[in-house]
Amino acid sequence: MDQERLLRELSEFLRIPSVSTLPAHNQDCRAAAEWVAAELRRIGCHDVAFLGSDTHPVVWGQGPDVPGAPTLLIYGHYDVQPPDPLAEWTTPPFEPAVRDGKLFGRGSADDKGQVFCLLKAINPANPRVNFRFLIEGEEEFGSKVLFDLLKREPQRVRADAALVADMSYVAPGWPAVYTKLRGLCYAEITVRTSKTDLHSGEYGGAAPNAHEELARLLARLKGEDGKVNIPGFYTAVKRPSKAELAAWKRLPFNEKDFLQKRVQGKGLVGLKKYSVLERLWALPTFEIHGILGGFTGEGAKTVIPAEATAKVSMRLVPNQKLATVERQLAAAVKRVAPKHVTASVRFLHGANPAQIKIDHPAFQLLDQAFKQVTGRGTVPARAGGSIPVVPALASAGAPVILTGIGLPDDRLHAPNEKLDLQQLWDGIDVFRRFYELLGGQRHM
Ligand code: BES
Ligand code: MN
Ligand code: MN
Repeated sequence: MDQERLLRELSEFLRIPSVSTLPAHNQDCRAAAEWVAAELRRIGCHDVAFLGSDTHPVVWGQGPDVPGAPTLLIYGHYDVQPPDPLAEWTTPPFEPAVRDGKLFGRGSADDKGQVFCLLKAINPANPRVNFRFLIEGEEEFGSKVLFDLLKREPQRVRADAALVADMSYVAPGWPAVYTKLRGLCYAEITVRTSKTDLHSGEYGGAAPNAHEELARLLARLKGEDGKVNIPGFYTAVKRPSKAELAAWKRLPFNEKDFLQKRVQGKGLVGLKKYSVLERLWALPTFEIHGILGGFTGEGAKTVIPAEATAKVSMRLVPNQKLATVERQLAAAVKRVAPKHVTASVRFLHGANPAQIKIDHPAFQLLDQAFKQVTGRGTVPARAGGSIPVVPALASAGAPVILTGIGLPDDRLHAPNEKLDLQQLWDGIDVFRRFYELLGGQRHM
């Protein structure tokens, strides 16, 4: 493997700031799509196309073709999350840099580095399987373009298997295959308390304060004990089986290490009667991402804010439904808001949780590929994160293989996101081996 050339090529991809949630980066998203398209043409795809959007197109590709061999659909995303807070990056987010055997940069692990592995593992001279590609540019913003495309053209997901590499090992040396992903319901909650902002001396003591009301409202939606107080929220939640909980106990996961090395905080929170893994993987959440409004500028301003907005999201688990949770949140906000407050909820995007059966023979092939390359096969695990389109990828019956070559400490969405170079090289070898093994199957 020409590692230097590969590193140069991946760095080129990472240098494109394809932040899908910020309109100012629309051209960059398009440029990242062009980068993917050029790669697909190089591999030997014969009908590369941009579908669904000019700025955040789904990049489709078909080929190379291997008559008689199974068809593999590869999914990934070329968009990334915003890089802020910029000051916390050791080197700038879109200037990829190697330190300590790690490649730092936004998208290095999520998901450009992994898409790169999937593509570079293909040998155009001997492709082994029939490839199809759906590489989207809006995963980090709810995948609307791809959802709409698959609604119009559901045949795009027809394949013998689908492969998604957008996750990590469960621990260094422990590759994983994922059986469940959490869903997501992202919303803005806005409270208004008066027509305009008011002088806090003239009005303070008698006029309602939007920030105070929002803080109280949010506190009512989730208690100190970590319980989400939205009526009906837990009704559909299905606890993992005894066997699954027992299997998690055997994973190389240590709650103390999780706190000290990964969270790097002073203590964990949440529903303490459940294990940390159960809280991360099998229970729904309510998180506040940010609060807007009022005065936050430099200096001091004595004002009573008239409006405040919180960006929040809930992670959903089997068998919760996005549509139901949206209704539950809207009703709960209405219920807890006092009469003197106008409260409203606006939904930005969302995803249902995903459940994958891993009994199809293709999962054994991935297990073998990992075993042969890294010395250890895949352990079944769940993921706390979401990939909105996974249920739709599974809708035509193809087994969706959810895996990844990242490590748990890659700092996705955070400053100093990285990918260990050894994971990158191993990843390319693993997927190359997987394609070979899959190509050896005639009947799937
Ligand atoms: N690759 C992640 C999902 C992920 C992260 C799965 C960690 C398992 C472990 C993906 O890019 C992601 O971040 N998805 C968003 C989706 C959302 C914006 C709809 C997420 O989970 O926040
Ligand atoms: Mn991702
Ligand atoms: Mn992500």
